[in-house]
Amino acid sequence: MRVFVLCLLRGTGNRIIDFKPTPERPFVLGLPTGSSPIPTYKHLIRLVKDGKISFKNVVTFNMDEYVGLPRDHPESYHTFMFREFFSHVDIDPKSVNILDGNAADLVGECNKYEEKIQAVGGIELFLGGIGEDGHIAFNEPGSSLASRTRIKTLAYDTILANARFFGNDIAAVPRMALTVGVKTVLDSREVVVVVTGQRKALALSMAIEHGVNHLWTLSALQTHPWALIVVDEDATAEL
Ligand code: GLP
Repeated sequence: MRVFVLCLLRGTGNRIIDFKPTPERPFVLGLPTGSSPIPTYKHLIRLVKDGKISFKNVVTFNMDEYVGLPRDHPESYHTFMFREFFSHVDIDPKSVNILDGNAADLVGECNKYEEKIQAVGGIELFLGGIGEDGHIAFNEPGSSLASRTRIKTLAYDTILANARFFGNDIAAVPRMALTVGVKTVLDSREVVVVVTGQRKALALSMAIEHGVNHLWTLSALQTHPWALIVVDEDATAEL
């Protein structure tokens, strides 16, 4: 796959992260699920195995989680993250934060998540992917660009797109999720989003060639000083 970097959203060159994490001052990383970040996770796992990087002083916050899916379900984002990433790197599991979609008090769970992010000093770098409808995390079309972590009903397009992970059984896909808000993502000091494949081409074009709007929530990154979108050639079909 040929990958190249679109710098359309970033005006001032590359930001060099000169960050030496310590237990007192960890690096705070926001992480996504989906197929888009898998090559990144594979690469990071290789770097850890080669001794080039370490996740010892890294604290992570995942973007989202389904509501009502058992934590140990093969398609829960909790299971996904340990299977694809956390079990293969040297992170302390206590430093991993994933929303609990089975919490008795879902609103309280979302509020606690925001407080926890604040308590560690905010997110340094948010990695992300997008849905075909341009959603970032589970911020579906129509989400407020000022939104914070909350419960979100999934758009029918998202349920259809994610049915492939549930044996193509639309009825098996959860209808709701907990998700960080658009503003939660915008508050991170740097954002890097991976967009690949032709099915994301319309969303990419709406998000970067049209105005900032709540129907294509990726477009909010136009207002972020350090947002970068990494794409493959297929994703640029509508540009
Ligand atoms: C889900 C997740 C998003 C992710 C999207 C894209 O909807 N909530 O955070 O970006 O899937 O998944 P994929 O990368 O598999 O296309």
